[in-house]
Amino acid sequence: MAQIKKIGISTGGGDCPGLNAVIRAAVKCAIIKYRWEVVGIEDGFDGIIFPDKKIRPLTLKDVSGILPRGGTILGTTNRGNPFCYKVMENDVEVVKDISDQVVANTKKLGLDGVIVIGGDGSQKIGLDLFRKGMPVVGVPKTIDNDLDATDITFGFDTALHTATDAIDKIHTTAESHHRIMVVEVMGRDAGWIALEAGLAGAAHVILIPEIPFSIERVCEFIHQRESQGKKFSIIVVAEGVKAQDKAEKIFGREKRDVPRGGSGYVIGDAVAMCARRETRVTVLGHIQRGGSPSPFDRILSTRFGVAAVELIARGEFGRMVCLRGNKIQSVDIAEAVGRMKGVDPDGDMVRMAKSIGVCFGD
Ligand code: F6P
Repeated sequence: MAQIKKIGISTGGGDCPGLNAVIRAAVKCAIIKYRWEVVGIEDGFDGIIFPDKKIRPLTLKDVSGILPRGGTILGTTNRGNPFCYKVMENDVEVVKDISDQVVANTKKLGLDGVIVIGGDGSQKIGLDLFRKGMPVVGVPKTIDNDLDATDITFGFDTALHTATDAIDKIHTTAESHHRIMVVEVMGRDAGWIALEAGLAGAAHVILIPEIPFSIERVCEFIHQRESQGKKFSIIVVAEGVKAQDKAEKIFGREKRDVPRGGSGYVIGDAVAMCARRETRVTVLGHIQRGGSPSPFDRILSTRFGVAAVELIARGEFGRMVCLRGNKIQSVDIAEAVGRMKGVDPDGDMVRMAKSIGVCFGD
């Protein structure tokens, strides 16, 4: 096995509480345990595309005090895929595959290992670079908790706390004003945040992408509550909700998928019309991605950061760390990418929620 001397760390995709905790753990373990040199690759893979400007040493001093900080000290981007990189040529935007250059730059920089911290998209790019010879290991990240390869991703717990706290606060107004309050949370493809924050925040209606909803059913449920003397209702909506039918009635068009962000407003309007009740909408948006990671996320991130360094030490490239039960393990990135973990509409959690009277709009 080649001797490791120097490694790089990059963060890609949307930011997420716990990214800095992963960076800190990886840097500390690499330096304290293995005496490797560590560099930070800034703004996703851009750092390796422009190494002169976007590669910087990461010392123990650089990671001191960053454990409780949200965001990423390395910067991140949702763009910048080296396999289809947008560049301007003669004032015209063209898309180029510059992956060979990225692999060559990794060698020039003397990186014996690259830790790619990111969601499904970043892991997919990491895998393709690994297949071209880059010594990649992955760390999964997303507040949506929708990666099948790991039981939990860091960031989810913090987002859940933020969303639950918001629902608790919104309860006050709902109750005092006898209103219907719609709270939109993140979750483009999976309804984990909506489901768990909805349950933790005692929401009455939870709408998630995995269970297409009918607006009539939601209104029927609200009327039923009112007939029992319940004068307010809380509806938690995942941004990626899908309508069962008559989507054009609700969303103004045939397509059942709601545009990312804003679905809460559309549902709020539709409910206000059919339930004839004063309705207000709150979209939590990026507040859920911000802030200091929860103790659970700090510890999970630290475990992931150390585990990624250990993968490099053992030469296990092309693998991604994950949590199974309470054990840190790893999987081939190839097996992990493209496999989404959604809420099971017939699973335990949904059945339990239905048993206590939560409406899913189905
Ligand atoms: O992938 C996580 C996520 O939080 C999604 O739920 C959401 O749709 C997306 O990020 C928003 O990302 P951005 O607005 O930063 O592109």
